[in-house]
This record gives sequence, C-alpha cells and structure tokens, in this order.
Amino acid sequence: MAARKPLIAGNWKMFGRAADLGEIAALSEAIGPASGAIDVLICPPAPYIGAAAEQVRGMSILIGAQDCSAVGADSARTGEISAAMLADAGALCIIVGHSERRTLHGETSDLVRRKAEAALSAGVTPIVCVGETQAEREAGRVADIVGQQVRDSVPEQSANIVVAYEPVWAIGGTRTPTLPEIAEVHTLIRTVLAERFGDQANAVRILYGGSVGPKNAAEIFSVEGVDGALVGRASLKATDFAAIILAHPAAS
Ligand code: PGA
Repeated sequence: MAARKPLIAGNWKMFGRAADLGEIAALSEAIGPASGAIDVLICPPAPYIGAAAEQVRGMSILIGAQDCSAVGADSARTGEISAAMLADAGALCIIVGHSERRTLHGETSDLVRRKAEAALSAGVTPIVCVGETQAEREAGRVADIVGQQVRDSVPEQSANIVVAYEPVWAIGGTRTPTLPEIAEVHTLIRTVLAERFGDQANAVRILYGGSVGPKNAAEIFSVEGVDGALVGRASLKATDFAAIILAHPAAS
C-alpha cells in the first residue's frame, strides 16, 4: 500500500480580512521545501478564496473552502455557494460537517453527506468532520457517535475523501484527548471505513483536529493512524502554522 501523504489543513473560520492573506506568503517562506512532502491547505473565508488562490500560484500551498451548498446544480438559492463555484474560484478541498456547522447551524449527517457528494461532483475533495461532544464522551458513547457519523456522513465512495476526527470538546480550547484516545478513535474510523470500502479505505486520510498547536503537534503526529491535522486558531498566524507543519516527521 502506498503511504498516505500527510495533509495539514488550516481552517480560518470567520476570521481575517484580505490583508491577512499576506500570512500565506509568509507561511510558504517559513515552511520552505516541507510543502513538497506534506499537503498544506488553507481554507480562508469564502470571499477570499479567489484572491488566496491567486496568491499561491507558484507555491505548493493549496486553497480550500469551509462549507458548500448541498445543491450541486445552479439554482435559485439566495446566499448559497455551490461546490462548483468554490472550485471555479480555486478551492481544491471543502470542509463539510464541521462541528460548528452541525451544532450552530443544525446540520445533520445526511446533509453533510450530500454536501460531500456535491463537492465530489465538482471534482473537489471533501474533508468530512466527525467527533463527539463532552457529554457523549462521558456517557461512553464515542464509538457509537463517531461510527454513526462516519457511516452517515461519508458518501458511497472512498476515493478522494478525507475524514477529520475533531472531538467537539477539544475545539478552540486547550484540552485535547490523550494520545491513546486519539489512536483509538482513528482506528475506529478506519475500521468503519474498511467495513464500507474494503482495502480502499486504506487510502483515506484521517486527520486529527481540536486545539492542535506548535506545542502538541509533534506528539499528535506521532500517533499511529494520524495522517495530519485540521487546525483552527493556530492556522491564522504563519509562524504558528509553520511550526505545526515543521513538527511533522515528513517535514524533515
Ligand atoms: P482549533 O479548531 O484548532 O482552534 O481547536 C479546530 C477546528 O475547529 O477545526
């Protein structure tokens, strides 16, 4: 089996302005050749995707989006942005089903799967997010919840799919699961993918997300089955994001 190329993705969420796109050039400078061995992705807010894609011309940094419409065809959907439009603007990946969309915008796994399908139809890689809440972890339901999210949110194909395990309680704070806890859930996700896709599940990259920063990145990357990270806050500043990328063993 070919080794999975690590992917380290930055999710800028609803932060930043056009002026902050300068961080991308600073990042490229700071990571140097590391971006050859690692897929480095930045997902800025939608209005800046086109300009960000222009900026990365000649660099090996990829640009992605944070969400898309579940509706593929051009249609009367005020305010919606289709995967095809995001692709046209330069997005190569689209995050779908982030916990902030699931909790704050009521997105179900069924909707998330349709968004992932829309991304695939537009030729874009969906990064499908899954993860349990604090209460679900305390109730011993991690395998149930995450397993079901993987079954219901990942489309009927494994090619060109990324899954991100993001425990909801670890996002935007300072707490992360222990390394064995991360390993356990990554193994669970791969097992569920293997039940659906057989050996082809081996090609799916599974990222960890939730309070990844320069201090804990190296130990998280050392966990068996972790193929990279989805990084929120620490991806906004080139220095922090570069430190995370350079902490990956493939960077050296
Ligand atoms: P965080 O966010 O790195 O700020 O915890 C991760 C995410 O929400 O994807």
